[in-house]
Amino acid sequence: MTGRIIGTGSYVPERIVTNEELAGVVETSDEWIVTRTGIHERRIAETEGTSVLASRAAERALEDAKVSAEEIDFILLATSSPDHCFPNGACEVQAAIGAVHAMAFDISAACSGFEIALSTAQAFIQAGVYRTGLIIGADCLSKLTDWSDRATCVLFGDGAGAAVIQADEEAGIIHTVMGSDGARGMVLSCLARSEGNFLNGKTPELGYIYMNGQEVFKFAVKKVPECIHQVLSESKTDIEEIKYFVLHQANYRICEAVAKRLKQPFDKVPMNIDKYGNTSGATVPILLDQLNREGKLTRGDKLVLAGFGGGLTWGAVLLTW
Ligand code: ACO
Repeated sequence: MTGRIIGTGSYVPERIVTNEELAGVVETSDEWIVTRTGIHERRIAETEGTSVLASRAAERALEDAKVSAEEIDFILLATSSPDHCFPNGACEVQAAIGAVHAMAFDISAACSGFEIALSTAQAFIQAGVYRTGLIIGADCLSKLTDWSDRATCVLFGDGAGAAVIQADEEAGIIHTVMGSDGARGMVLSCLARSEGNFLNGKTPELGYIYMNGQEVFKFAVKKVPECIHQVLSESKTDIEEIKYFVLHQANYRICEAVAKRLKQPFDKVPMNIDKYGNTSGATVPILLDQLNREGKLTRGDKLVLAGFGGGLTWGAVLLTW
Protein backbone atom coordinates (compact mmCIF):
# COMPACT_ATOMS: atom_id res chain seq x y z
CA MET A 1 0.00 0.00 0.00
CA THR A 2 1.07 3.54 -0.67
CA GLY A 3 -0.56 6.89 0.05
CA ARG A 4 -2.16 8.58 -2.96
CA ILE A 5 -3.42 12.17 -3.11
CA ILE A 6 -7.03 11.94 -4.25
CA GLY A 7 -8.17 15.54 -3.74
CA THR A 8 -6.83 19.01 -2.97
CA GLY A 9 -8.19 22.30 -1.65
CA SER A 10 -6.94 25.70 -0.60
CA TYR A 11 -8.15 28.88 1.03
CA VAL A 12 -6.64 32.34 1.39
CA PRO A 13 -8.10 35.34 3.21
CA GLU A 14 -9.95 37.85 1.06
CA ARG A 15 -7.93 40.91 2.05
CA ILE A 16 -5.19 41.68 -0.50
CA VAL A 17 -2.22 43.74 0.72
CA THR A 18 -0.14 45.16 -2.13
CA ASN A 19 3.48 46.25 -2.01
CA GLU A 20 2.28 49.84 -2.38
CA GLU A 21 0.17 49.48 0.75
CA LEU A 22 3.17 48.09 2.68
CA ALA A 23 5.23 51.06 1.50
CA GLY A 24 2.91 53.10 3.71
CA VAL A 25 3.68 50.89 6.73
CA VAL A 26 7.50 50.57 6.48
CA GLU A 27 10.16 52.24 4.37
CA THR A 28 10.14 50.03 1.29
CA SER A 29 9.04 50.06 -2.34
CA ASP A 30 7.28 47.87 -4.87
CA GLU A 31 10.49 47.84 -6.91
CA TRP A 32 12.64 46.59 -3.97
CA ILE A 33 10.18 43.84 -3.04
CA VAL A 34 9.54 42.63 -6.60
CA THR A 35 13.19 42.51 -7.66
CA ARG A 36 14.40 40.76 -4.46
CA THR A 37 11.51 38.35 -3.94
CA GLY A 38 9.04 38.24 -6.87
CA ILE A 39 6.17 39.17 -4.51
CA HIS A 40 3.56 41.67 -5.78
CA GLU A 41 0.85 41.14 -3.19
CA ARG A 42 -0.15 38.82 -0.36
CA ARG A 43 -3.33 37.94 1.58
CA ILE A 44 -3.56 38.88 5.25
CA ALA A 45 -6.18 37.45 7.63
CA GLU A 46 -8.03 40.28 9.34
CA THR A 47 -10.33 38.20 11.50
CA GLU A 48 -9.73 34.51 10.79
CA GLY A 49 -7.00 32.44 12.44
CA THR A 50 -5.00 29.46 11.21
CA SER A 51 -7.70 26.91 12.13
CA VAL A 52 -10.37 28.69 10.10
CA LEU A 53 -8.12 28.90 7.02
CA ALA A 54 -7.14 25.24 7.50
CA SER A 55 -10.76 24.10 7.90
CA ARG A 56 -11.88 25.86 4.72
CA ALA A 57 -9.02 24.37 2.70
CA ALA A 58 -9.82 20.96 4.22
CA GLU A 59 -13.49 21.17 3.23
CA ARG A 60 -12.53 21.99 -0.34
CA ALA A 61 -10.09 19.06 -0.45
CA LEU A 62 -12.78 16.67 0.86
CA GLU A 63 -15.18 17.92 -1.79
CA ASP A 64 -12.58 17.44 -4.52
CA ALA A 65 -11.78 13.93 -3.26
CA LYS A 66 -15.48 13.07 -2.87
CA VAL A 67 -14.72 11.80 0.63
CA SER A 68 -16.88 12.64 3.65
CA ALA A 69 -15.41 14.07 6.86
CA GLU A 70 -16.57 10.93 8.72
CA GLU A 71 -14.32 8.78 6.51
CA ILE A 72 -11.14 10.58 7.65
CA ASP A 73 -8.95 8.47 9.97
CA PHE A 74 -6.32 11.09 10.74
CA ILE A 75 -5.64 14.80 10.35
CA LEU A 76 -2.12 16.23 10.25
CA LEU A 77 -1.88 20.01 10.32
CA ALA A 78 1.53 21.39 9.39
CA THR A 79 1.76 24.81 10.99
CA SER A 80 4.16 26.98 12.93
CA SER A 81 1.48 29.54 13.77
CA PRO A 82 -1.33 27.62 15.49
CA ASP A 83 -3.98 29.83 17.07
CA HIS A 84 -3.29 28.31 20.49
CA CYS A 85 -0.71 26.15 22.26
CA PHE A 86 -3.53 23.71 22.88
CA PRO A 87 -5.97 22.47 21.82
CA ASN A 88 -3.88 21.88 18.71
CA GLY A 89 -5.02 23.25 15.36
CA ALA A 90 -5.66 19.82 13.89
CA CYS A 91 -8.21 19.10 16.65
CA GLU A 92 -9.86 22.46 15.95
CA VAL A 93 -10.11 21.49 12.27
CA GLN A 94 -11.54 18.11 13.28
CA ALA A 95 -14.27 19.84 15.28
CA ALA A 96 -14.98 22.42 12.56
CA ILE A 97 -15.42 19.90 9.73
CA GLY A 98 -16.99 17.09 11.78
CA ALA A 99 -14.27 14.47 11.20
CA VAL A 100 -15.54 12.59 14.24
CA HIS A 101 -13.51 9.40 13.67
CA ALA A 102 -10.16 11.09 13.11
CA MET A 103 -7.19 11.42 15.43
CA ALA A 104 -5.52 14.77 14.94
CA PHE A 105 -2.23 16.46 15.70
CA ASP A 106 -0.04 19.33 14.49
CA ILE A 107 3.38 19.02 12.90
CA SER A 108 5.77 21.89 13.55
CA ALA A 109 8.42 22.07 10.84
CA ALA A 110 7.85 25.60 9.50
CA CYS A 111 7.97 25.83 5.70
CA SER A 112 8.83 22.11 5.25
CA GLY A 113 5.83 21.07 7.33
CA PHE A 114 3.61 19.90 4.49
CA GLU A 115 6.26 17.56 3.03
CA ILE A 116 7.07 16.20 6.49
CA ALA A 117 3.34 15.69 7.20
CA LEU A 118 2.93 13.83 3.88
CA SER A 119 5.90 11.62 4.79
CA THR A 120 4.33 10.91 8.18
CA ALA A 121 1.00 10.08 6.52
CA GLN A 122 2.79 7.74 4.13
CA ALA A 123 4.40 5.92 7.06
CA PHE A 124 0.99 5.47 8.76
CA ILE A 125 -0.52 4.14 5.55
CA GLN A 126 2.38 1.82 4.69
CA ALA A 127 2.29 0.41 8.22
CA GLY A 128 -1.44 -0.25 7.89
CA VAL A 129 -2.27 2.02 10.84
CA TYR A 130 -4.64 4.28 8.88
CA ARG A 131 -6.25 4.35 5.46
CA THR A 132 -7.53 7.88 4.74
CA GLY A 133 -5.98 11.14 5.95
CA LEU A 134 -6.30 14.86 5.64
CA ILE A 135 -2.95 16.62 5.34
CA ILE A 136 -3.03 20.39 5.72
CA GLY A 137 -0.43 23.15 5.57
CA ALA A 138 -1.72 26.40 7.09
CA ASP A 139 -0.07 29.48 8.53
CA CYS A 140 -0.95 33.00 9.66
CA LEU A 141 2.55 34.39 9.98
CA SER A 142 1.05 37.88 9.90
CA LYS A 143 0.33 37.34 13.61
CA LEU A 144 4.01 36.61 14.35
CA THR A 145 5.42 39.38 12.18
CA ASP A 146 7.04 42.53 13.50
CA TRP A 147 5.25 45.04 11.26
CA SER A 148 8.02 47.57 11.80
CA ASP A 149 10.74 45.21 10.46
CA ARG A 150 10.90 45.79 6.71
CA ALA A 151 13.38 42.93 6.23
CA THR A 152 10.71 40.34 7.13
CA CYS A 153 7.25 41.91 6.98
CA VAL A 154 7.24 42.21 3.19
CA LEU A 155 7.85 38.48 2.68
CA PHE A 156 4.93 36.67 4.25
CA GLY A 157 1.24 36.05 3.59
CA ASP A 158 -1.49 33.98 5.25
CA GLY A 159 -3.16 30.92 3.71
CA ALA A 160 -3.90 27.20 3.80
CA GLY A 161 -3.73 24.23 1.46
CA ALA A 162 -4.91 20.65 1.99
CA ALA A 163 -4.80 17.21 0.42
CA VAL A 164 -6.77 14.03 1.05
CA ILE A 165 -4.48 11.01 0.99
CA GLN A 166 -5.73 7.43 0.78
CA ALA A 167 -4.19 3.95 0.74
CA ASP A 168 -3.80 2.74 -2.85
CA GLU A 169 -2.51 -0.59 -4.13
CA GLU A 170 -0.99 0.80 -7.31
CA ALA A 171 0.44 4.29 -7.21
CA GLY A 172 0.92 7.43 -5.18
CA ILE A 173 3.85 8.46 -3.02
CA ILE A 174 6.97 6.75 -4.34
CA HIS A 175 9.61 7.98 -1.92
CA THR A 176 10.27 10.72 0.62
CA VAL A 177 13.35 12.25 2.24
CA MET A 178 13.51 14.53 5.27
CA GLY A 179 16.26 16.26 7.21
CA SER A 180 17.04 18.77 9.95
CA ASP A 181 19.96 20.87 11.12
CA GLY A 182 19.08 22.20 14.55
CA ALA A 183 22.57 23.65 15.01
CA ARG A 184 21.72 26.33 12.44
CA GLY A 185 18.21 26.94 13.81
CA MET A 186 18.78 30.53 14.87
CA VAL A 187 19.10 31.85 11.30
CA LEU A 188 15.30 31.71 11.11
CA SER A 189 13.40 31.88 14.36
CA CYS A 190 10.34 33.04 16.27
CA LEU A 191 11.09 32.78 19.99
CA ALA A 192 7.55 33.29 21.19
CA ARG A 193 6.78 32.53 24.83
CA SER A 194 10.34 31.39 25.43
CA GLU A 195 10.93 33.08 28.77
CA GLY A 196 9.10 33.80 31.95
CA ASN A 197 7.76 32.09 35.02
CA PHE A 198 7.36 32.97 38.70
CA LEU A 199 10.97 32.00 39.52
CA ASN A 200 12.68 34.43 37.14
CA GLY A 201 9.98 37.09 37.42
CA LYS A 202 9.88 37.63 33.65
CA THR A 203 6.66 37.90 31.70
CA PRO A 204 6.31 35.45 28.79
CA GLU A 205 6.71 37.47 25.64
CA LEU A 206 5.18 37.02 22.24
CA GLY A 207 8.26 36.94 20.03
CA TYR A 208 8.49 37.89 16.38
CA ILE A 209 10.00 36.33 13.31
CA TYR A 210 13.74 36.88 12.91
CA MET A 211 15.58 35.93 9.74
CA ASN A 212 19.14 36.10 8.48
CA GLY A 213 18.05 36.33 4.84
CA GLN A 214 21.39 35.65 3.24
CA GLU A 215 22.03 32.52 5.32
CA VAL A 216 18.53 31.23 4.50
CA PHE A 217 19.18 31.90 0.82
CA LYS A 218 22.47 29.94 0.85
CA PHE A 219 20.89 27.07 2.80
CA ALA A 220 17.94 26.81 0.41
CA VAL A 221 19.83 26.87 -2.89
CA LYS A 222 22.17 24.15 -1.63
CA LYS A 223 19.80 21.91 0.31
CA VAL A 224 16.76 21.85 -2.00
CA PRO A 225 18.63 20.51 -5.09
CA GLU A 226 20.48 18.05 -2.81
CA CYS A 227 17.29 16.58 -1.33
CA ILE A 228 15.61 16.45 -4.75
CA HIS A 229 18.59 14.53 -6.18
CA GLN A 230 18.45 12.24 -3.12
CA VAL A 231 14.74 11.42 -3.46
CA LEU A 232 15.23 10.72 -7.18
CA SER A 233 18.39 8.64 -6.89
CA GLU A 234 17.13 6.54 -3.95
CA SER A 235 14.03 5.67 -5.99
CA LYS A 236 16.01 5.22 -9.25
CA THR A 237 13.92 7.89 -10.99
CA ASP A 238 15.35 9.92 -13.86
CA ILE A 239 14.94 13.68 -13.36
CA GLU A 240 13.57 14.00 -16.91
CA GLU A 241 10.49 11.96 -15.84
CA ILE A 242 9.40 14.77 -13.50
CA LYS A 243 6.63 17.00 -14.86
CA TYR A 244 6.69 19.62 -12.11
CA PHE A 245 8.91 20.52 -9.18
CA VAL A 246 6.43 22.05 -6.73
CA LEU A 247 8.77 24.08 -4.54
CA HIS A 248 8.18 26.06 -1.36
CA GLN A 249 7.40 29.62 -2.46
CA ALA A 250 9.87 31.53 -0.28
CA ASN A 251 11.45 33.64 -2.93
CA TYR A 252 11.37 33.77 -6.74
CA ARG A 253 15.16 33.91 -6.94
CA ILE A 254 15.59 30.80 -4.76
CA CYS A 255 13.29 28.79 -7.08
CA GLU A 256 15.17 30.08 -10.16
CA ALA A 257 18.51 29.10 -8.60
CA VAL A 258 17.17 25.63 -7.72
CA ALA A 259 15.97 25.05 -11.31
CA LYS A 260 19.39 26.11 -12.58
CA ARG A 261 21.22 23.77 -10.21
CA LEU A 262 18.92 20.92 -11.22
CA LYS A 263 19.60 21.83 -14.90
CA GLN A 264 15.84 21.86 -15.46
CA PRO A 265 13.79 24.43 -17.42
CA PHE A 266 12.08 26.99 -15.18
CA ASP A 267 8.68 26.17 -16.72
CA LYS A 268 8.82 22.89 -14.75
CA VAL A 269 8.85 25.00 -11.55
CA PRO A 270 5.36 26.52 -11.22
CA MET A 271 5.20 29.75 -9.24
CA ASN A 272 2.51 31.78 -7.49
CA ILE A 273 4.58 33.79 -4.99
CA ASP A 274 3.63 36.96 -6.92
CA LYS A 275 0.04 36.67 -5.64
CA TYR A 276 0.38 35.11 -2.19
CA GLY A 277 3.89 35.81 -0.89
CA ASN A 278 5.43 33.21 1.40
CA THR A 279 2.60 31.43 3.23
CA SER A 280 5.11 29.12 4.99
CA GLY A 281 3.69 25.58 5.40
CA ALA A 282 0.85 26.42 3.02
CA THR A 283 2.78 27.36 -0.14
CA VAL A 284 3.20 23.84 -1.57
CA PRO A 285 -0.40 22.61 -1.02
CA ILE A 286 -1.84 25.92 -2.31
CA LEU A 287 0.26 25.60 -5.47
CA LEU A 288 -0.61 21.92 -5.84
CA ASP A 289 -4.31 22.76 -5.57
CA GLN A 290 -3.91 25.50 -8.17
CA LEU A 291 -2.25 23.07 -10.63
CA ASN A 292 -4.97 20.49 -9.94
CA ARG A 293 -7.84 22.96 -10.46
CA GLU A 294 -6.26 24.40 -13.61
CA GLY A 295 -6.28 20.85 -15.06
CA LYS A 296 -2.49 20.74 -15.32
CA LEU A 297 -2.15 17.38 -13.56
CA THR A 298 -2.94 14.09 -15.31
CA ARG A 299 -3.06 10.68 -13.68
CA GLY A 300 0.39 9.15 -13.98
CA ASP A 301 2.30 12.46 -13.89
CA LYS A 302 5.36 12.38 -11.64
CA LEU A 303 5.85 15.35 -9.30
CA VAL A 304 8.43 16.32 -6.72
CA LEU A 305 7.24 18.48 -3.83
CA ALA A 306 10.03 20.14 -1.85
CA GLY A 307 10.10 22.39 1.19
CA PHE A 308 12.76 24.03 3.36
CA GLY A 309 12.57 26.32 6.34
CA GLY A 310 12.82 26.98 10.05
CA GLY A 311 14.45 24.36 12.24
CA LEU A 312 16.32 24.22 9.94
CA THR A 313 14.29 21.53 8.21
CA TRP A 314 13.81 20.23 4.67
CA GLY A 315 11.84 17.54 2.91
CA ALA A 316 11.10 16.21 -0.58
CA VAL A 317 8.27 13.94 -1.72
CA LEU A 318 8.28 12.08 -5.05
CA LEU A 319 4.82 10.98 -6.14
CA THR A 320 2.71 9.79 -9.02
CA TRP A 321 -0.44 11.85 -9.45
N1 ACO B 1 12.65 47.45 1.49
C1 ACO B 1 13.69 48.22 1.21
N2 ACO B 1 14.92 47.96 1.67
C2 ACO B 1 15.09 46.88 2.43
C3 ACO B 1 14.04 46.02 2.77
C4 ACO B 1 12.76 46.35 2.26
N3 ACO B 1 11.69 45.59 2.52
N4 ACO B 1 14.50 45.03 3.55
C5 ACO B 1 15.82 45.24 3.69
N5 ACO B 1 16.17 46.37 3.03
C6 ACO B 1 17.49 46.97 2.91
C7 ACO B 1 18.40 46.60 4.05
O1 ACO B 1 18.20 47.44 5.16
C8 ACO B 1 19.74 46.81 3.42
O2 ACO B 1 20.03 48.17 3.44
P1 ACO B 1 21.54 48.68 3.70
O3 ACO B 1 22.34 48.14 2.57
O4 ACO B 1 21.38 50.16 3.68
O5 ACO B 1 21.91 48.11 5.02
C9 ACO B 1 19.53 46.40 1.97
O6 ACO B 1 18.11 46.48 1.75
C10 ACO B 1 20.02 45.02 1.66
O7 ACO B 1 19.56 44.16 2.70
P2 ACO B 1 19.86 42.63 2.65
O8 ACO B 1 19.22 41.95 3.82
O9 ACO B 1 21.33 42.42 2.42
O10 ACO B 1 19.06 42.26 1.35
P3 ACO B 1 19.22 41.01 0.44
O11 ACO B 1 19.74 41.40 -0.88
O12 ACO B 1 19.91 39.89 1.15
O13 ACO B 1 17.72 40.62 0.25
C11 ACO B 1 16.20 38.96 1.06
C12 ACO B 1 16.93 40.25 1.36
C13 ACO B 1 15.25 39.20 -0.09
C14 ACO B 1 15.41 38.53 2.28
C15 ACO B 1 17.26 37.89 0.66
O14 ACO B 1 18.24 37.78 1.66
C16 ACO B 1 16.67 36.60 0.40
O15 ACO B 1 16.10 36.38 -0.64
N6 ACO B 1 16.84 35.64 1.35
C17 ACO B 1 16.22 34.38 1.30
C18 ACO B 1 15.36 34.26 2.49
C19 ACO B 1 13.90 34.15 2.18
O16 ACO B 1 13.44 34.21 1.08
N7 ACO B 1 13.19 33.93 3.25
C20 ACO B 1 11.80 33.74 3.15
C21 ACO B 1 11.27 33.29 4.45
S1 ACO B 1 12.12 31.96 5.07
C22 ACO B 1 11.54 30.57 4.41
O17 ACO B 1 10.49 30.52 3.84
C23 ACO B 1 12.34 29.35 4.56
